[in-house]
Amino acid sequence: MGSFNFTVCVILMLLVMVVGAIPFEPKIGRKVGRAHRWGDPLIRSPVGRDADEAEEDGGGVRWAVLVAGSQGYGNYRHQADVCHAYQILKRGGLKDENIVVFMYDDIAKSELNPRPGVIINHPNGSDVYAGVPKDYTGEHVTAANLYAVLLGDRSAVKGGSGKVINSKPDDRIFLYYSDHGGPGVLGMPNMPFLYGKDLIEVLKKKHASGTYKEMVLYIEACESGSVFEGLMPENLNIYVTTASNAEESSWGTYCPGMNPPPPPEYITCLGDLYSVAWMEDSESHNLKKETIKQQYEKVKERTSNVNNYNAGSHVMEYGSKEIKPERVYLYQGFDPATVNLPANKIDFERLEVVNQRDADLLFLWERYKKLEDNSFEKAKLRKEITETMLHRQHLDGNIEAIGVLLFGPTKGSSALNSVRKPGLPLVEDWDCLKSTVRLFEVHCGSLTQYGMKHMRAFANICNNGVSRDAVEEAFMAACNGHWIEEYSSANRGFSA
Ligand SMILES: *[C@@H]1O[C@H](CO)[C@@H](O)[C@H](O)[C@H]1NC(C)=O
Repeated sequence: MGSFNFTVCVILMLLVMVVGAIPFEPKIGRKVGRAHRWGDPLIRSPVGRDADEAEEDGGGVRWAVLVAGSQGYGNYRHQADVCHAYQILKRGGLKDENIVVFMYDDIAKSELNPRPGVIINHPNGSDVYAGVPKDYTGEHVTAANLYAVLLGDRSAVKGGSGKVINSKPDDRIFLYYSDHGGPGVLGMPNMPFLYGKDLIEVLKKKHASGTYKEMVLYIEACESGSVFEGLMPENLNIYVTTASNAEESSWGTYCPGMNPPPPPEYITCLGDLYSVAWMEDSESHNLKKETIKQQYEKVKERTSNVNNYNAGSHVMEYGSKEIKPERVYLYQGFDPATVNLPANKIDFERLEVVNQRDADLLFLWERYKKLEDNSFEKAKLRKEITETMLHRQHLDGNIEAIGVLLFGPTKGSSALNSVRKPGLPLVEDWDCLKSTVRLFEVHCGSLTQYGMKHMRAFANICNNGVSRDAVEEAFMAACNGHWIEEYSSANRGFSA
């Protein structure tokens, strides 16, 4: 990063010297500044292609929706990812009025944040928080608001800035999401989760309204492929890539104790592997030259951690593949400072990573280590770590018992965990999935962020056509009284 900035600086200085020597005509309606001298046709002509690019653009507006689905300092990285994405789009020329940001907004001001008011997304990174529009924060970061925003339905939005994607037929939309997920679902800081079927229905509705030309979705979450697998149509002019396939974790990176580590005062991961892969790729290329396909391939290689799937995941693609030859700038804009960067360069280091689901434990432990022995704070944290571990074991044990009750001791586990063939959705009946999740939470307590991983068990109960009575009896028997009050769904809300 340091050397990159230095290179840009040198190029800028050289250009300023050249520009100083030739007459220069500012573009109408643009502020004249050093950076905008890049817009001078005399400078751009050696690079060429501008006429074609303008044509490809078609004159539509670029819109973006950025979503961080989590809250809490242990999930620092998701909001850091989203803020970073905003800065890329902003430098690319997208206007604030066309970028809708969903973030809980509890990181920059957290008492655990060593740099108050600042968020970074790279060990050497500068602040990515400044200027980020706070459209939907806190309790307003909901799946329902996201759907209303995408559909441009201002009247359905609850709270927040009221900004929606009020797009026209020639416009392009970029959606980027980062958080935890589970089979068929993406997390949200306020219940319920986002369900794959609901998102696809919203996309179909948006398509039917004829209010966009094309859309690109980048989705980072565990099992994120399962949100689209067997569901995503290929005729909506929407191209999707996900951080992982339907049955694997995605990964946090720039974590304490790993290589490369965050600055020592940080006890939480700064980014996620797929997310930093696409963003650092966008920042090191000329996006008027790089195609969506080139970005997909590089992000896929980097997210696999160079084919090391024990510490990396399979980036997947869904939807309208004919969008792939298009240039990235049609969605992410173009930063004039990148004009001399290449279209395609494969050059990155391997990053050490942590499974998304263990990142919160890592955070608790890093915090624990730093506290003074015998302090009240340390005792409190000891209890929190123990309870977190016990809750995970309870949850896993309850699901196992339910499997035995419904399918017998030899088939229980395989029936609940079996993964359907590629091309098939997680579940045939999504209403059954949701009602089963609710039933579970009535008897067994809230699934929580960790419990999202068990969505496949509920999906398979539905796919096997087990009667609702049998399901309820199994839930009651397995869970009765075995959960802690703190995890009751009355306190935490229902995830479906
Ligand atoms: C951060 O900057 C230092 C000094 O320039 C460099 O040695 C280090 O590799 C950089 N870290 C990363 C992760 O880029």
